[in-house]
Amino acid sequence: MTKLSVNINKIATIRNARGGNIPDVLQVAVDCERFGAQGITVHPRPDERHIRYQDVLDLRPLITTEFNIEGYPTDRFISLVKSVKPHQVTLVPDPPEALTSNAGWDAIKHQDFLREVIAEFKQAGIRVSVFIDTDCKNIEAAAKTGTDRVELYTEPYAVGYLVNKEKAIAPFIKAAQCVKDIGLGLNAGHDLSLINLKYLSDNIPWIDEVSIGHALISDALYYGLEETIKKYKDQLK
Ligand code: PXP
Repeated sequence: MTKLSVNINKIATIRNARGGNIPDVLQVAVDCERFGAQGITVHPRPDERHIRYQDVLDLRPLITTEFNIEGYPTDRFISLVKSVKPHQVTLVPDPPEALTSNAGWDAIKHQDFLREVIAEFKQAGIRVSVFIDTDCKNIEAAAKTGTDRVELYTEPYAVGYLVNKEKAIAPFIKAAQCVKDIGLGLNAGHDLSLINLKYLSDNIPWIDEVSIGHALISDALYYGLEETIKKYKDQLK
């Protein structure tokens, strides 16, 4: 069954808007787990405008499900992840100033770099996932870096779903089949929501994990966090 990992960056963004500690990011993470989340995801950026490096350190002893740290592998990021030792690190190619991740890796061009970085994480006993688009040649290149999983970048699916869902899902089914044939684990994320998650899950039931932030936290304003997490998990059944 596909696991739901809740990305709590948005909670930190609200906290950071005012200084102080409301909402309490650590408490929200613990509560997400209590409400049924099967993982917690954070994405520390170099300017720490969302999750701070200290948050990541403070979260580690509190997480009882699966801890996933996403980010571009700068030296600082690599040493943070190696000291925290989460269950999974997800490598994304976004430049520091990016508003949010907006593309997967070019695993052909960056194969050597990825291989080197991934070896370091694997040596530390951390599972690695690489954020990637749907091109099968690129996925094959990613497999050669030693990664355990890939995370399909689902924004194009989410956008296309609203126009023509059959057309939007087609390249993702193909890519997911390609991932399966190669023997890698499969994650998915970005712009997944109560609108599009069920269709993705129904068509690609072998996704190991989805990580969801923006839409889930926004839905929680209406439904509350507990009910929202339940609703998202129901989409994955
Ligand atoms: N996966 C990755 C690699 C991301 O960078 C993000 C955004 O931080 C997400 C998933 C979650 O995207 P969203 O906030 O749109 O659910």
